[in-house]
Amino acid sequence: MTDVRAIILAAGKGTRMRSDVPKVLHPIAGRPAIAYVLDIVRSLKTFVVVGHGAQKVRAALGDGLTYVVQDKLLGTADALRRVAPLLKGFRGHVLVLCGDTPLLEKQTVQRLLAEHRRSRADATVLTARIHDPRGYGRIIRDVSGHISAIREHKDAGPREAKIREINVGAYCFKAQKIFDVLRRVKWNARKKEFYLTDAVELLLAQGGRVETVLAQDASSAFGINTRVDLARAERTIRARILRKLMLEGVTIVDPATTYVQTGVRIGQDTVIYPCTVIHRDVVIGKNCRVGPFAHLRPGTRVGDHVEIGNFTEVSRSRVGKNTFMKHFSFLGDAALGADVNIGAGTVTANFDGRAKHRTTISDGAFIGSGTVLVAPVTVGKKAVVGAGSVVTKGKNIPAKAVAFGVPAKIVKN
Ligand code: UD1
Ligand code: CA
Repeated sequence: MTDVRAIILAAGKGTRMRSDVPKVLHPIAGRPAIAYVLDIVRSLKTFVVVGHGAQKVRAALGDGLTYVVQDKLLGTADALRRVAPLLKGFRGHVLVLCGDTPLLEKQTVQRLLAEHRRSRADATVLTARIHDPRGYGRIIRDVSGHISAIREHKDAGPREAKIREINVGAYCFKAQKIFDVLRRVKWNARKKEFYLTDAVELLLAQGGRVETVLAQDASSAFGINTRVDLARAERTIRARILRKLMLEGVTIVDPATTYVQTGVRIGQDTVIYPCTVIHRDVVIGKNCRVGPFAHLRPGTRVGDHVEIGNFTEVSRSRVGKNTFMKHFSFLGDAALGADVNIGAGTVTANFDGRAKHRTTISDGAFIGSGTVLVAPVTVGKKAVVGAGSVVTKGKNIPAKAVAFGVPAKIVKN
């Protein structure tokens, strides 16, 4: 779509978050809130308007986007106006989204764009009907039911305040039309801002066409302004992630207590038991059993037919197929082969106070209960470590050897 540019407004301070972190960088399911908005426009050339915490936002989002700085936070109309010089002579459309609406769905934005093209409007506004419209701009319609204005919550009279159709903060505009009209938006003294939403009335006044598209899912509209909103968004995104996994053939015994972040891949017929936390991009194979009360942290890859039971933590580790680790254990920076048995209470001591070190446990090894492996350490194929052993730093237990004790000594080769 070479005739569409995306513009994400993300300069706001997010005062109500009460945070040193810019609002759009607060994480949801392991990713900054704005990343979900960027997903929607991935195929388009995208401008991000940054202001508050601009450096942090740029650092978090990286290259591939064009950043436009809004040095003074003078409102959404001013934010959009900052992009005008970069789109001089551009005759297509701009898709404008807010960086703080992470629940907005791609299909909804696609509908907005398709409808905007079909109707040939100058502006198309995405709206939603929600139960509690407080804080949002209200969609004002004339007697014929056509949009006539957007009234901000603070400026709404008692009648307008009752309107439940709200402005999502996602729009399509003919680029030249909107940049032209933005120059005439007036200063709102009450909120000390230039409102982008005022462009609707200005366009209509000069004979322009403004249309609306109603979002099918009300959750699309949800904007994050406080930490309470952040938690709500997290809940919705988490539910979406779990639903997708379930439809792919994963059993989630209790979605209400299962926390799976973005990018996690889980194979068919794996069962996730309650109170389990699985971080970003973790990969789990087929036919595994994970939890209850398991914590799989980033950098973890688990093969097929693995059991990771209760009160276990696995971090930056690979676990080979048919391996069992069923009760209270910690694996950090470890590489486990296939058919390994990790006895109850086994711990890899991967951090020596200065650096992290690796533990390797080869195929078929048996680690007795209550073993501490002080990394770096290697346990060979089919080796056995007796219960209660401490395998000290640098130790290399050969294949098929039996080691035991504190410190562990090889008792049989
Ligand atoms: C805005 C809309 C409101 C809509 C709501 C949807 C206006 C005037 N109001 O209100 O109709 O219902 O979004 O969530 O547009 N921003 C900048 N620069 C600024 C100010 C804001 O880039 O100077 C960015 C913010 O980072 C944010 C977005 O614009 O991502 C919306 O700003 P925000 O202050 O949150 O507007 P709302 O009051 O939520
Ligand atoms: Ca907002």
